[in-house]
Amino acid sequence: MKRKKITVAGAGNVGATTAFIAAQRQLGDIVLIDIVKGLAEGKALDMAQASSLCGFDSRISGTTDWAQTAGSDVVIVTSGMPRKPGMSRDDLLAKNTEIVKSVTQQIVKYSPNSFIIVVCNPLDAMVNAAAMISGFEKNKVMGMAGALDTARFAYFISEKLGVSVNDIKCVLMGGHGDDMVPLARFTTVSGIPVTELIDEKSIANMVQRARMGGIEIVNLMGTSAFYAPAAGAVTMAESILLDKKMVMPCCAYCDKEYNVGGCYVGVPAVLGAGGVEKVIELDLNEKEKQELAISVGHVKELVDIVKKHI
Ligand code: LAC
Repeated sequence: MKRKKITVAGAGNVGATTAFIAAQRQLGDIVLIDIVKGLAEGKALDMAQASSLCGFDSRISGTTDWAQTAGSDVVIVTSGMPRKPGMSRDDLLAKNTEIVKSVTQQIVKYSPNSFIIVVCNPLDAMVNAAAMISGFEKNKVMGMAGALDTARFAYFISEKLGVSVNDIKCVLMGGHGDDMVPLARFTTVSGIPVTELIDEKSIANMVQRARMGGIEIVNLMGTSAFYAPAAGAVTMAESILLDKKMVMPCCAYCDKEYNVGGCYVGVPAVLGAGGVEKVIELDLNEKEKQELAISVGHVKELVDIVKKHI
């Protein structure tokens, strides 16, 4: 069987960590690309030199030359500026639209059959930008946010209950912003609704902490999180490359679904060899519908601004 090829665009914290986790999971050979000369080459060489110690056979190479990425199966786009303290994800909009535009043009040129997983912020706006610029089929472009946000929520629950984090399954919808919509009533601990195990107030606190999960880390260390975002992106790539059909929230195209009306937003979806194979529609209550509509409205406002920059 021919090895899969994964390109990671951007060799900063998120990109380098993504490449390293993907290598450790042996998802295929990895090309790390960055515009800064030597950065991707150096990090890739360092990771490659760890391969015997970590026990992986994936090849990792670093480059500044998009030709080296040709024929990738999956491209994970981490390029972009990270958030600094005091900056919202939206402040990054104009700068990162430009970056995503140029990266997407290279993806179209060299890997026209790839799946694109966008990771850079503001996430939902950047996914819409990559989709518009690439013109790829809608199931082939998606964004990583829900995997991260639910992983945070799951971690808080496991910490509170003292149970395995692997038993916790969460659902979350909407944009990757402060108005994201974690759905506690669909969250379970080995099938037990979390609402049976944790009081309402504590759940509300954890929901709020998950919403502010990104900024909590920015405030602690002065830049954006990268371990958990990278793990989220690799898990999505894994579900696609191995056709695992995992159900996880991701930024996917919705039209009639949830009455979104033609926009990429966070929804639970099935990820497999066909990319986003299905968006799962839940019967939301009025409050959830309202919260989702607000979040989607915010994403659409950003998409309108993105359109002026592409
Ligand atoms: C976060 C950034 C990556 O949520 O958006 O940590």
